[in-house]
Amino acid sequence: MCFKGLIVLFSLIFANYVEALKLNDECQLRDGKGTGRCMLADDCEPARSAALQKNPHELGSCGSDQSTEIVCCPITTPKDVLRRSEIECNEILKNSIPASNPVVGGDLASPGEFPFVVALGYEYKNETLFNCGGSIISKDYVLTEAVCLHNTIFGKPMVVRSGVTDASDSKWNNETDVGIADYILHPNNTKSKVYNDVALLRLSKPLKFSSNVRAVCLETNHDDPKGTLITTGWKPPSGWKQDDGRVLKKTNVTAISLSECSNMFDVGRNLRLGIVPEMVCAANPEGEPRSCKGDAGGPLLQQTDKGQHRLIGVTSFGKGCNIGIYMRVSRYLDWIESIVCTRRDVPCTAHQAHKQRNFEPRCYLR
Ligand SMILES: *[C@@H]1O[C@H](CO)[C@@H](O)[C@H](O)[C@H]1NC(C)=O
Ligand SMILES: *[C@@H]1O[C@H](CO)[C@@H](O)[C@H](O)[C@H]1NC(C)=O
Ligand SMILES: *[C@@H]1O[C@H](CO)[C@@H](O)[C@H](O)[C@H]1NC(C)=O
Ligand SMILES: *[C@@H]1O[C@H](CO)[C@@H](O)[C@H](O)[C@H]1NC(C)=O
Repeated sequence: MCFKGLIVLFSLIFANYVEALKLNDECQLRDGKGTGRCMLADDCEPARSAALQKNPHELGSCGSDQSTEIVCCPITTPKDVLRRSEIECNEILKNSIPASNPVVGGDLASPGEFPFVVALGYEYKNETLFNCGGSIISKDYVLTEAVCLHNTIFGKPMVVRSGVTDASDSKWNNETDVGIADYILHPNNTKSKVYNDVALLRLSKPLKFSSNVRAVCLETNHDDPKGTLITTGWKPPSGWKQDDGRVLKKTNVTAISLSECSNMFDVGRNLRLGIVPEMVCAANPEGEPRSCKGDAGGPLLQQTDKGQHRLIGVTSFGKGCNIGIYMRVSRYLDWIESIVCTRRDVPCTAHQAHKQRNFEPRCYLR
């Protein structure tokens, strides 16, 4: 009687114990190594790799779900999981061909120094004028400013010119120019020009990557950048006095924090929400009144220790040419990836472009 009671009590405690550790419950890792999560052994990376090597895993057990063991799996922090844009960045860098031209000083870009920068051409009086910039983010897509898609005089861009530092030639060039198959505005740009001022252009044929043409790595970190950043723009070779063509120029700017930047802009009719986290700010104290003209849609870049550039922002608007506001790329990665990073082995629902026949979705270099 007493013995039977003990068994019942024991069973109750045991039943409670098992019930307390279901799939996805938190659990204590063995040897006090912190907290884990109860997962099917098949879903837990350390258990799976041990099984592949035919070794027993060293994880604690949470119980079992019919035939599959439930283990106390170490929780992978988000840092351990590279998002798609980071994976693609590694591919971009691995496959990039170094430029043959050395980088020269001054404000003119050297060929191959910014191989991801393109010029957007507008048809005007039988000529093509290159008045906006953009950044190659895959063989099929260019990231630019939404404003560049509806220029008040020139309308939509018709041509993307890549691989050059001089875009003065107004004639179509088969070597450098491709058409645009699809204009994709950020869905939340419709009501206001200053917010979500980003757009994607799908090219009519994939770019051929070379030492002067390739995709740029997208910044994935939301933190405010620090120090010196670089912007590029398509501008006349010498000042804005005469309109004698467009060459690629680079400018050093200094990052400023969002809070510092907010203090410089009044909330008003044109900036109803003020400066928001989807923006990045940078200062150019020496910026002459027209010196930033031609920067529209182009990149805000940070150079890494290894001399590579990361795309921090898309040039949007500013206070004169002294304070620039850029769309913060890290905040748009979900949208960008949903359109650009669909692969044949991934179902694609993101955008109707992918449903068109003869269009083979491609994720960056693949
Ligand atoms: C921009 O800054 C870099 C170092 O951060 C410097 O080497 C370069 O000379 C600067 N360029 C201009 C045009 O001031
Ligand atoms: C543009 O070119 C076409 C055909 O070459 C010509 O008929 C037309 O007059 C030109 N328009 C302008 C504004 O030059
Ligand atoms: C450009 O390429 C297209 C198709 O590849 C061809 O039909 C056209 O003749 C070419 N134009 C020139 C000027 O080479
Ligand atoms: C647009 O705004 C809505 C409402 O804030 C939000 O739910 C949606 O995710 C936004 N779209 C994109 C692509 O960011």
